[in-house]
Amino acid sequence: MTGYDALAEVYEWLISDVKLAPADFAASFADVLDLLPAEAHVLDCSCGTGQLAVGLAGLGLRVVATDASEAMVRRTAELSGEFGASVRTVRADWEELPGHFDDFTFDAVFCVGNSLHHAVGARGRVAALESMSRLLRRGGHLVLTSRTWELVRARGSRLDIGDRIVRRNGRDAVVVYRWEIAPRWEEEHHIEIAIAEVEAAGSVLVRSELLSCWPYRYDELEAELRRVGLRVETSTFDPEAENYTVVASKVQTAG
Ligand SMILES: C[S@@+](CC[C@H](N)C(=O)[O-])C[C@H]1O[C@@H](n2cnc3c(N)ncnc32)[C@H](O)[C@@H]1O
Repeated sequence: MTGYDALAEVYEWLISDVKLAPADFAASFADVLDLLPAEAHVLDCSCGTGQLAVGLAGLGLRVVATDASEAMVRRTAELSGEFGASVRTVRADWEELPGHFDDFTFDAVFCVGNSLHHAVGARGRVAALESMSRLLRRGGHLVLTSRTWELVRARGSRLDIGDRIVRRNGRDAVVVYRWEIAPRWEEEHHIEIAIAEVEAAGSVLVRSELLSCWPYRYDELEAELRRVGLRVETSTFDPEAENYTVVASKVQTAG
């Protein structure tokens, strides 16, 4: 249970406009997709509601989408059905992945959209990265996107209230994030997310979820990637920017 089962129903309000259309989401990774062979075998291992997986399948890649949340996996399967995309879906958390797939199966593994901070502490994060690394063929790519936690922590605990109504499928909502920043990096942090939907009759329906997360510094992440046999090829990390993308390649068998 990841805490995302309730959010799955209203997840479109949490994703940016550019990630809503599967083709656009996939196109945002054009640089790494250019490195892959035709019909590459790819895994999206925290697929959420499936926009990236469906977009990748639309490019002719062989796609598997996994997530720890049953509800997220169900939504990914539904989206695939809507788009007539061929995406295999499996409910699995990161550490369970080697039980589902052979080592060296994938040309690329995606773990995007602020997912990795849900791994429990440094130990959980390394275990998750190790699973991803094992499944990559030698030379295969791990694509990771992340918040810049250095910035998030510097701002401290706070409330972020969306300054506009977001429309999704003809329905309007305001999104509120409550950040609970613990005194020390290693401690469990929390993000409470509330989606207040303004219904046609004028009432407000609020759905919320308290998520646990364990932040990491960029330097730690780099060291952890090395530890599991991945070498950083490109990184957009900038301590002043909100998010970054890291592409790392498999150089040896993890472990
Ligand atoms: C912020 S969402 C990102 C979803 C999607 N990648 C995106 O970009 O929209 C984080 C996802 O990570 C999944 N997740 C959390 N803990 C996980 C775990 N231990 N193993 C696999 N997935 C996990 C959640 O269920 C959720 O779908």
